[in-house]
Amino acid sequence: TEYTAIITETHGRVATITLNRPEALNALSNTLITELVSAAAGFDADPNIGAIIITGSERAFAAGADIKAMLDLEYADVLAGGVFPSWDGLERMLTPTIAAVSGFALGGGCELAMMCDIILAGDNAKFGQPEINLGVIPGFGGTQRLPRAIGKYKAADMVLTGRMMDAEEAERSGLVSRVVPAAELLDVAKQTAELIASKPLPAVKAAKNALQAAEESSLSEGLRVEQIAFAALFATEDQTEGMRAFAEKREANFKHR
Ligand code: HXC
Repeated sequence: TEYTAIITETHGRVATITLNRPEALNALSNTLITELVSAAAGFDADPNIGAIIITGSERAFAAGADIKAMLDLEYADVLAGGVFPSWDGLERMLTPTIAAVSGFALGGGCELAMMCDIILAGDNAKFGQPEINLGVIPGFGGTQRLPRAIGKYKAADMVLTGRMMDAEEAERSGLVSRVVPAAELLDVAKQTAELIASKPLPAVKAAKNALQAAEESSLSEGLRVEQIAFAALFATEDQTEGMRAFAEKREANFKHR
């Protein structure tokens, strides 16, 4: 497929999607979002892909939705929907996603990172929800995912002031999984993705689904999701192999990975 706003590549079982609008700090144009969601869905449907990295440039992961494309929109246009492409495909898929964030992750860029399972940050990363400065609010999930990630008071501080958080504060707040030296970001992302992709895929997808249930549901409902998935994994060959290999003191040879 020919893309104009992203670059895709695969190495073994790891796919990488690189946002590529350097002239606009990877602002999320409709074309970029459509291409990103479609590429991710394609990798999600590919049994040979076990993890997906989403990254930007050294200067910017993504500086938000494309402000210049929103200039003349009106209430009725935006309310009617269809102004922005749907993120559904990315939010619902079960292949693990890693956001590798260097530089700015602002507005929709921060929200895109929060749609991923793991956020790795270069020590030069800057996170923020600056929409308030434009007279709007986050629109790709920021008011919901940020409080779940960093708590009510940190989230309100970010959303109401529009200030940026550096990588160190983001890690301390629980917004990022790990901070690494910027020069090592992509290597660490690839190693992490390869590690995940080496695990038995049915268990990986069950784990991601159960983790998502933790954000969506009450504790008792989430525990039920976990219980059913845990039991279901005993119907997989990879469970048999994984546990036998341990008992026989040998390395597991998983079928689905
Ligand atoms: C369109 C953008 C852009 C954006 C940067 N650019 N961010 N274009 N949309 N979100 C463009 C600039 O216009 C400029 O183009 C070029 O990228 C380089 O940016 P500069 O501003 O010159 O760089 P710098 O001075 O280093 O400042 C970097 C920055 C700043 C602090 C990241 O660009 C900035 O504040 N950007 C906007 C961040 C933001 O408000 N994001 C939230 C968007 S709203 P030219 O052509 O002049 O060189 C949002 C809502 C999501 O995300 C939900 C929607 C439903």
